[in-house]
Amino acid sequence: MIIMSQMKKDAGYLAAGEVKDGQILGLGTGSTTHYFIEAVGKRVASEGIEVMGIPTSYQSFLLAKAANIPVTTLDEHEIDLAVDGADEIDPKFNLIKGGGAAHTLEKIVDYSAKEFIVIADSSKLVDTLGAFPLPVEIIPESVTPVMKALKDMGGVPEIRMGQLKDGPVITDNGNFILDVAFSAIENPIHMEKDLNAIPGVVENGLFTEMVDKVIIGFEDGARFI
Ligand code: 5RP
Repeated sequence: MIIMSQMKKDAGYLAAGEVKDGQILGLGTGSTTHYFIEAVGKRVASEGIEVMGIPTSYQSFLLAKAANIPVTTLDEHEIDLAVDGADEIDPKFNLIKGGGAAHTLEKIVDYSAKEFIVIADSSKLVDTLGAFPLPVEIIPESVTPVMKALKDMGGVPEIRMGQLKDGPVITDNGNFILDVAFSAIENPIHMEKDLNAIPGVVENGLFTEMVDKVIIGFEDGARFI
């Protein structure tokens, strides 16, 4: 039985093969994009391809530096290809993201890319989004009214707490994360917009109608689905 990390690695390495010399890359966040960044770094070293990366978190910024991928910003460059992970992927390639609390910058980067490829292991494929609690980044001062609004929408929100850090997780942007349990997310396209209309919500982890391609790592290797 192949381990999950091998499926993630296979997906990340297959995506790195899609990168073309000269491209500006959106660098997603998480354990799967870790392998993508590592593999792009190997192509930079072995083939001499010249690329630049726009990180979506401090994690991907540090990984890019370690892989000798020069980093740039959205102020200076447009993104040719963004590659990012996901917590859930439905049959229409709508996503839940934000398991790593990076979905706000991920959405800015991924949505602005000319091409957006999602990479994941096969456990992320679902029929309907919602088993994974939906991450919502909020302004800390808004926690009480936002939690009330989310309950009114049928959700059960919880403040994400730190590991090896007392108190709430603080995002790269200085905000809180609410993980919101919904019984099922039947209309992710509407919900993505509705959640962002709540004052205090910075961004939610639904990514709808934006993915171009999905690469899944299965037990027998990775492939486009
Ligand atoms: C971070 C994300 C990640 O892409 C998502 O959580 C998937 O992570 P992993 O590749 O570690 O399973 O959205 O905010």
